[in-house]
Amino acid sequence: MAVLVVIAHPEKTSFTHSWANESIKAAKMLGHQVLISDIYQMGFDPIEKAVHYNKTYPENQFDILKTQEFHSRQNTLPADIEEEIFKFRECELAIFHFPIWWFAPPAALRGWMERVLVNGRMHDTHNRFDKGLFKGKRAQFCVTMGASGQESSHNGKEGDINMLLWPMAYTLRYIGMDILPYKILNSVHSYHSDEHKKGLEKYLSREIKKQKSLIQNFQNKEVLKFNSDADFNEEGQLKENAKSYSPFIRPKP
Ligand SMILES: Cc1cc2nc3c(=O)[nH]c(=O)nc-3n(C[C@H](O)[C@H](O)[C@H](O)COP(=O)(O)O)c2cc1C
Repeated sequence: MAVLVVIAHPEKTSFTHSWANESIKAAKMLGHQVLISDIYQMGFDPIEKAVHYNKTYPENQFDILKTQEFHSRQNTLPADIEEEIFKFRECELAIFHFPIWWFAPPAALRGWMERVLVNGRMHDTHNRFDKGLFKGKRAQFCVTMGASGQESSHNGKEGDINMLLWPMAYTLRYIGMDILPYKILNSVHSYHSDEHKKGLEKYLSREIKKQKSLIQNFQNKEVLKFNSDADFNEEGQLKENAKSYSPFIRPKP
């Protein structure tokens, strides 16, 4: 089985990288093939733009969805995108390692998704949500953030992390993936000194040693719940009797 490890952090000595290295080590120890997308280290350009394509569609205008679809059909997608799609198709589990920056995943990771989740190849209007092409694959988010657990939970002043991560989770759900419960490490920052610093380092090194069991059991874990296609009416509105699984899609009060 192949595991894809996606890393979105520019600094090798960051905690995000140390944690990702533990994922790579653990996946190898479990006998899995490991594929890596280290977005910064690869020099991946996370900005979708016309110069990535030898021709836009239509020719005098860069319509992103149409251009992606055109090159998917012609098999002329940019080489760096083909490589990422290959890794995505190969893996059964994709582990995403990233920090929270300004209440969201880093822009480089968002950009990676904007370019890699190509219309025509990775999804289209007939193949999305319940009929997503990547059904059966699972995603694990491994997230670091400066805010404490209290500050980033329900009613916390930094915003509920479950909501901050929902757009990214829903993006992967759009292409059919299941999302495992988020693994979040709080209060990760370099402002401590002395005993506080040692305490934080001890806690972090203890936490990241758990990657083996996280990966080992990923197929048996309950995944996050999303509304199914059948929960929506023809206008795309949540049906009156349907339960909502996220404040982003909520019944009318
Ligand atoms: C540009 C930037 C924005 C940040 N925004 C947030 C934020 O919105 N919420 C938060 O909890 N921490 C925030 N932080 C703190 C980082 O999440 C924290 O430093 C990081 O997770 C530590 O892990 P690292 O060693 O892998 O960088 C921010 C850090 C940077 C550099």
